[in-house]
Amino acid sequence: MSEIDLMARYPKTKRKDIIEERVQASEADREIARRFDKAYFDGPRRLGLGGYHYNPKFFTPVVEDMISHYGLTGNSSVLDVGCAKGFMLHDFKIALPDITVAGIDISDYCLQNAMPDVAQFLRHASCDLLPFPDKSFDLVISIATIHNLDLEGVKRSLREIMRVSRKHAFIKVNGYHTDAERDALHRWNLVAKTILHVDEWQAIFTETQYLGDYYWFTP
Ligand SMILES: C[S@@+](CC[C@H](N)C(=O)[O-])C[C@H]1O[C@@H](n2cnc3c(N)ncnc32)[C@H](O)[C@@H]1O
Repeated sequence: MSEIDLMARYPKTKRKDIIEERVQASEADREIARRFDKAYFDGPRRLGLGGYHYNPKFFTPVVEDMISHYGLTGNSSVLDVGCAKGFMLHDFKIALPDITVAGIDISDYCLQNAMPDVAQFLRHASCDLLPFPDKSFDLVISIATIHNLDLEGVKRSLREIMRVSRKHAFIKVNGYHTDAERDALHRWNLVAKTILHVDEWQAIFTETQYLGDYYWFTP
């Protein structure tokens, strides 16, 4: 288990402007966003991602780094927990056409608007109840997803990720080191129910026996 920024080459967005729009979000807006429907992905920035479109510049370098870090080959299998429209899995398939991929998400909107080449490998499910047998995948990845649940849901999700992985896992979660980072996360956040200090995350990893890798999302 280690702290490693496997998304170091994911391009940064201009978050300052977005935060200014986000702080204007009302409680009603947050409720709409938490449906993870069209409004969250492809509606205005105030309600979420403000247009979630495929662009190879996002996950292509991340996928390259994951393949080399975990030594993945065409014989490997990868699960993306919170796969949305399957962008990352699509890039895995481009890099390693024979790799086995699977994704789960609770967003029907995303599943209906998924990348066509991987749509058949995506399923509707929640990260705290993964519809796969034990030790199904070489690598289980979950980016900016499990922190959308409350603390008990986060713990269930971590145990599920460990259960279905036979080797590796990598998660990215809302974690802060300083008060300034905490405040920035709260201003940025629309949907997450769990935002914790990195030491609190470490304690939860120990409690749930999460042995995978991790990194922190900070705006
Ligand atoms: C910030 S998006 C990240 C999507 C993708 N992992 C990425 O990095 O582009 C969060 C994702 O978590 C999904 N999500 C939220 N709650 C979930 C749950 N309980 N189980 C599975 N997916 C969930 C949302 O539908 C959304 O696709």
